[in-house]
Amino acid sequence: MPKMTPPGSTSPTHLAPRQVQFNWADVPLHWIPEQAFASHFLNQLHMMLPIGEFWFCKLFNQALPWIQDERLADDVKAFIRQEALHARAHQGAARDYLGAHGIETQSFIDRVNRLFQKGPFSDEPYGRPLPRWLARRWLIFRIGIVATIEHSTCVVGQYVLRNQRWDQVGADKTMLDILRWHCAEEVEHRCVAFDLYRHLGGGYAGRWAQKMIWIPCFLITYAIGVGHLIAQDPAFKGRRTGPLSPWFWGQWRRAAKGGFLPGIGWFLSNELRALKPGYAPVDEGDSAEALAYLARSPGVLPQGTKLS
Ligand SMILES: [Fe+2]
Ligand SMILES: [Fe+2]
Repeated sequence: MPKMTPPGSTSPTHLAPRQVQFNWADVPLHWIPEQAFASHFLNQLHMMLPIGEFWFCKLFNQALPWIQDERLADDVKAFIRQEALHARAHQGAARDYLGAHGIETQSFIDRVNRLFQKGPFSDEPYGRPLPRWLARRWLIFRIGIVATIEHSTCVVGQYVLRNQRWDQVGADKTMLDILRWHCAEEVEHRCVAFDLYRHLGGGYAGRWAQKMIWIPCFLITYAIGVGHLIAQDPAFKGRRTGPLSPWFWGQWRRAAKGGFLPGIGWFLSNELRALKPGYAPVDEGDSAEALAYLARSPGVLPQGTKLS
């Protein structure tokens, strides 16, 4: 019987990493005017994204030798470079913007990093080396977790590209640009992790398990990080700001109602859509819209600028 060719790339466009530069000098802490909670909620991205993105790069580099489809291998290489650039840009924001406002981020980053370096999501969970056959399966399963996360980054990406509410109230342009540049590239490369998962033999049942791990892990970790930022803001001195306080959830609901953040119901319904049997990431997001933003983004440097 002839050997079946594994599914390959479904990306609708050729992916291109872009070098960027952002000037954080004049960006206020509450960069959405009169929306301190929403500003901090989105600032959490600068802490959390680099942790995940460097983990994606590590896993995808490990998978590269197993890819039998030339176009998918090119997609994966471009994906790795894009994610590494996203991570560095957000690290710059955490250091030069949050740090300049006296907001400490490293203790949260170190805690979450441990989950990926030595904890349950590492190559050798809690220091236990895996046999070869299981190590490969474990890598494919974690690439499936990346694929489920990449569904979220695509739908949130599309939301960020389209949300004009921030512009209407005069939100900071540098902050909107880093978010929209990043989100546009998330829409652009939305198929890569899913394609890689399927190419390596990842199946439908695994997608349920990956989604059920991702949703609570994300919500809990994200909310703790937002609380970590808000607790340091003098504007909220003396208030219980963590995710265990009703105030936190009330603020989130209020910001979502005002159009400044996605709501939790919106998030969950978008997540579950990725579990439909016929789901294909190419049907999510709009590449033309993403590329149009990337062509006019003030932070994107001219093509040919040397990539680090
Ligand atoms: Fe990214
Ligand atoms: Fe991504």
